[in-house]
Amino acid sequence: MAAYEYETHEYDVVVVGAGGSGLRATLGMAEQGLRTACITKVFPTRSHTVAAQGGIAASLSNMGPDHWQWHMYDTVKGSDWLGDTDAMEYLAREAPKAVYELEHYGVPFSRTEEGRIYQRPFGGHTTKFGEGPPVQRTCAAADRTGHAILHTLYGQSLKQQAEFYIEYFAIDLIMSEDGQCQGVVAWNLDDGTMHVFSAKMVVLATGGYGRAYFSATSAHTCTGDGNGMVARAGLALQDMEFVQFHPTGIYGAGTLITEGARGEGGYLTNSEGERFMERYAPTYKDLASRDVVSRCMTMEIREGRGVGPNKDHIYLHLNHLPKETLDLRLPGISESARIFAGVDVTKDPIPVLPTVHYNMGGIPTNYWGEVLDPAEGDPDRVAPGLMAVGEASCASVHGANRLGSNSLIDLVVFGRAAAIRAAEVVDAQAPNPEPNKAAIDKALDRFDAFRHADGGTSTAELRLEMQKTMQENAAVFRTEEVLAEGVEKMDAIAAKMDDIKVTDRSLIWNSDLMETLELDNLMPNALCTINGALARKESRGAHAREDYADRDDETWRKHTLARIEGRSLRLDYRPVHTEPLLRQEEGGIDLAQIAPKARVY
Ligand code: FUM
Repeated sequence: MAAYEYETHEYDVVVVGAGGSGLRATLGMAEQGLRTACITKVFPTRSHTVAAQGGIAASLSNMGPDHWQWHMYDTVKGSDWLGDTDAMEYLAREAPKAVYELEHYGVPFSRTEEGRIYQRPFGGHTTKFGEGPPVQRTCAAADRTGHAILHTLYGQSLKQQAEFYIEYFAIDLIMSEDGQCQGVVAWNLDDGTMHVFSAKMVVLATGGYGRAYFSATSAHTCTGDGNGMVARAGLALQDMEFVQFHPTGIYGAGTLITEGARGEGGYLTNSEGERFMERYAPTYKDLASRDVVSRCMTMEIREGRGVGPNKDHIYLHLNHLPKETLDLRLPGISESARIFAGVDVTKDPIPVLPTVHYNMGGIPTNYWGEVLDPAEGDPDRVAPGLMAVGEASCASVHGANRLGSNSLIDLVVFGRAAAIRAAEVVDAQAPNPEPNKAAIDKALDRFDAFRHADGGTSTAELRLEMQKTMQENAAVFRTEEVLAEGVEKMDAIAAKMDDIKVTDRSLIWNSDLMETLELDNLMPNALCTINGALARKESRGAHAREDYADRDDETWRKHTLARIEGRSLRLDYRPVHTEPLLRQEEGGIDLAQIAPKARVY
């Protein structure tokens, strides 16, 4: 057994991750008087939410008529009818409240002439239950909305006396013998010390796992750490086969060019100079939902109409927009285009390509953020002491495809919901449970084994192999053959974790070891994604099977649950929630409006 001394800390709540959802949860918990700690591997304002550009969806009606029911309808349709109705309703209904709270906390939103929060159009957001024109629903702080939100929430959390453990890497959950989460074990990267955080509630807000792929808009820190911890605890991950490709990553660099660029009037063209989206989505064109636009771009390239010497990308035009729009509304991406593509957006189009951007799947939760541990006959069973919010979680509000700007609103609505729920279920007066020593030892043993790993495979090599495999074998379009090959390759790649080589044995700022732990977190994410994709024999949202081109609601309108069991992976399914929170006579949506139908834009 590895001999590490550790310091023990006691809190009511420990939040792991300091992006938008982690900070919103931290703030909400602290506001309600719970002793709250937030552990984060990067400085809070460097979390990946900082890269969220275009905005946050809420039906404020500042730029024209809107309604939460229209927002809900768009989210249901965007999800390709895989989202949970209660969670989608909660999101759309609570969104305006959550945005006004942000405004009052101090988020510097862009403003209209009248001083209201500025809102722009975004893909898939419409009026009149998809029958009317696009709606301006996405509240923006220029094209740096995530940045503005992070800074505000961090400041507010400090004001509420939340305590931050910055540059601490969470290694594993501490689970009791009977399945209660009792805290986390963490490593202080800065001084090499080990820490046990005892908590009555742990909230995982660790973000997505975009870095399982070769080309992603996600930061290098997006390594699905919470999902990895959950998988090692024997809990399920849900709907992992649904991976979103953002239509406009900069060709080569992968850097995000916000959908807000198309919201402000930008458009895509192929090598013939054609605005091809008009052919595929005659009504909403470049503002169709993301999975649709990404597939259309891929088809144009496949059919030989890509641009550039290798005809392997597409152009995004902003050069027709007034300079003041670019300066006022899109300053950040104008700079990104100059730095990463060498393009002056006032003159030339930006070369773009669909790029991995978001994971719809994650840790299954209810709409309060409580983690689910589905059991036979009880698909909504709650795992005590554990919550998950943000991209790490799967509420499921995005189903098979997320609408742009529904991510930031998911972060704050469900971060806030988790805090509301925690205030109900966490007894601040009760003593903390005694953390399970065997679980702590197991976490430290795993850490120590990687620290001294002396195999023949470097972390960087193995990570690249995984990323290339995921990029090629679990891409925008999928087939049985390509996915089956990917599963075989990923099994072999994951097995090589036993042969990993870590060269640095120190404990202080050992980035070699940290990247190895991150790779070990990425592996279950990648495995669940590709196995779930092979099993799902239909096309739905971001999961486009060429061999099963249609959505099959009868067989497949259900959530995938993937569990890692030793060397193998088990798939199960749980039903989609189809019941709303409010009946129509209580002011809720007319269920007929959101009944499954063909998804056209
Ligand atoms: O395009 C964007 O600004 C990204 C927004 C989002 O993913 O919600």
